[in-house]
Amino acid sequence: MTDNEVGSGAAEGAAPQDASDGPFDATGAGPLVVVENVNKHFGDLHVLRDIDLTVNRGEVVVVIGPSGSGKSTLCRSINRLEPIDSGTILVDGKPLPQEGKDLARLRSDVGMVFQSFNLFSHKTILENVTLGPVKVRKQGKAEAVKNAMALLERVGIADQASKYPAQLSGGQQQRVAIARSLAMKPKVMLFDEPTSALDPEMINEVLDVMTDLARDGMTMIVVTHEMGFARKAAKKVVFMADGQIVESNTPEEFFTNPRSDRAKDFLSKILTH
Ligand SMILES: Nc1ncnc2c1ncn2[C@@H]1O[C@H](COP(=O)(O)OP(=O)(O)OP(=O)(O)O)[C@@H](O)[C@H]1O
Ligand SMILES: [Mg+2]
Repeated sequence: MTDNEVGSGAAEGAAPQDASDGPFDATGAGPLVVVENVNKHFGDLHVLRDIDLTVNRGEVVVVIGPSGSGKSTLCRSINRLEPIDSGTILVDGKPLPQEGKDLARLRSDVGMVFQSFNLFSHKTILENVTLGPVKVRKQGKAEAVKNAMALLERVGIADQASKYPAQLSGGQQQRVAIARSLAMKPKVMLFDEPTSALDPEMINEVLDVMTDLARDGMTMIVVTHEMGFARKAAKKVVFMADGQIVESNTPEEFFTNPRSDRAKDFLSKILTH
């Protein structure tokens, strides 16, 4: 795990809570994430091409597409693990900061869960979840422990709090990673293929936690090929190919009536698995 990734989903500036909809209802006006005309290259490779994407508060957007289409790069751009070449990205109405304290605040607003859980192996589950709030958000130890236990309860593993990551299954570790990210009180959560490294029988326990989060009003951008989750939780499916957003539609429309040949071809491949 890099320093950047430790900071991911970190720092002060927790979203004010609004009791109206659910625990994660983000207050404020306008969309939570706006990506406008974003371009990025890796050397000669044009990896993001004129990307436009709007994610409203409390909305779940699933990003799907072939390997190498730029899905991870898009996620990493949104919390500035990757700089972009042109265009704008706004989180809660503000452009992405370049560096320093403002960048730490952005990372606190944008939580990220990766395919590999990246837990600290020499720290207990509880310590993994309290570390960020105590170190970065300067939360008191007692408060951090209380919050962490509530989150571990929420993801169904409070009874594992004193264990070490290696003593947990992959699905349990990924749920810890989600709790750890939530402990920073992000406004939006990015998930990059959170279940693709898991054994099949553990996929659902992680998707269930994510479905609950969606139901509770968390704004989420989720890279996944889990169509059941997309149908159940997503407002919108975005299909990427070759660095472009080729289609953007409701899950129902996208899965039953894909318009582009690229999407039809892609879906025929994943559906036959
Ligand atoms: N740091 C990097 N340096 C150079 N090229 C990169 C870098 N990261 C990604 N790429 C390239 O950019 C393209 C998009 O990669 P990205 O990881 O965003 O794709 P993806 O859609 O997430 O793919 P996958 O489904 O395999 O995870 C790929 O061709 C990849 O090889
Ligand atoms: Mg990827």
